[in-house]
Amino acid sequence: MSAAGGEPTAADRWSDLIASWGLPEHIVAAAPESPWRHDVARFAVDDEAIDRDSTSARWAREVIPPVGGTVLDVGCGGGRSVAPLVPPATEVIGVDRVGAMLDEFVAAAERLGVARRTVHGAWPDVMATTPVADVVICHHVLYDVGDLVPFVVGLTARARLAVVVEIPVRHPMSAWNGAFGHFWNLDRPDRPTHLDVIAVLRELGLDPEFTVSPRRRRSRYDADPANLLTVARRRLGLGGDRDAELAGWLAEYPPPFVDEVATIRWPGDADPPGQAIA
Ligand SMILES: C[S@@+](CC[C@H](N)C(=O)[O-])C[C@H]1O[C@@H](n2cnc3c(N)ncnc32)[C@H](O)[C@@H]1O
Repeated sequence: MSAAGGEPTAADRWSDLIASWGLPEHIVAAAPESPWRHDVARFAVDDEAIDRDSTSARWAREVIPPVGGTVLDVGCGGGRSVAPLVPPATEVIGVDRVGAMLDEFVAAAERLGVARRTVHGAWPDVMATTPVADVVICHHVLYDVGDLVPFVVGLTARARLAVVVEIPVRHPMSAWNGAFGHFWNLDRPDRPTHLDVIAVLRELGLDPEFTVSPRRRRSRYDADPANLLTVARRRLGLGGDRDAELAGWLAEYPPPFVDEVATIRWPGDADPPGQAIA
């Protein structure tokens, strides 16, 4: 696809770049489980270490009304990214396509003592049944989204005040690029980046502000070395019979996890409270 005049649009470029991360059929077929699957535990709220000082948390809290503020979290996982917004948020709405993530989100909201609602399904398909909120957040999801325009338009339409998005500056799977070369003789891509998201937002006529910060504390799950082999095996689509070789590789070449994140914020355009919502 291309815009009139032959140049591909930023949205088309994003879509092609995301598609380039697809894994060849022979790797997927040999994989004991999906290389893309996420562990719920990895995205659970760590009650002892809720990080209220990240740029993304601060940028969202700047906008949430001091009284009765609501936050919609799209691709909420276990609520790790919304927890630092309570307070001032007094209601959180979680959307996720994985039911087990929503169970974890509800448990976290109960521990935080905040009102919550959940919507089970894929964004933007579930947009019509998702309530409007003061602030919409969507953290660590966009590299999963090939068709960015309806996704972003949906986020904007459900935010009264602002949308705040956080993503690593490179695709999170890029940490495994070297290992894919070694174990599967496979070259992996190095784009898109957060700048490709900015290009799509500008193409939509939105006016995003953004900044890059060091990635803060990784989850308790990630910090446990026992989980590294499990995650590596899954991401690389390897069977347990390769564990010794894989452990040796990981010791020699620790995966270069992306250590910077971009926070991107732009105005919402949902109707203010009291007005009809289409
Ligand atoms: C990497 S996790 C991030 C979770 C959470 N936002 C955080 O920052 O900890 C991505 C989450 O987004 C969900 N997800 C991905 N694409 C989605 C979509 N189109 N609609 C709803 N949920 C989605 C996944 O199920 C997963 O729970």
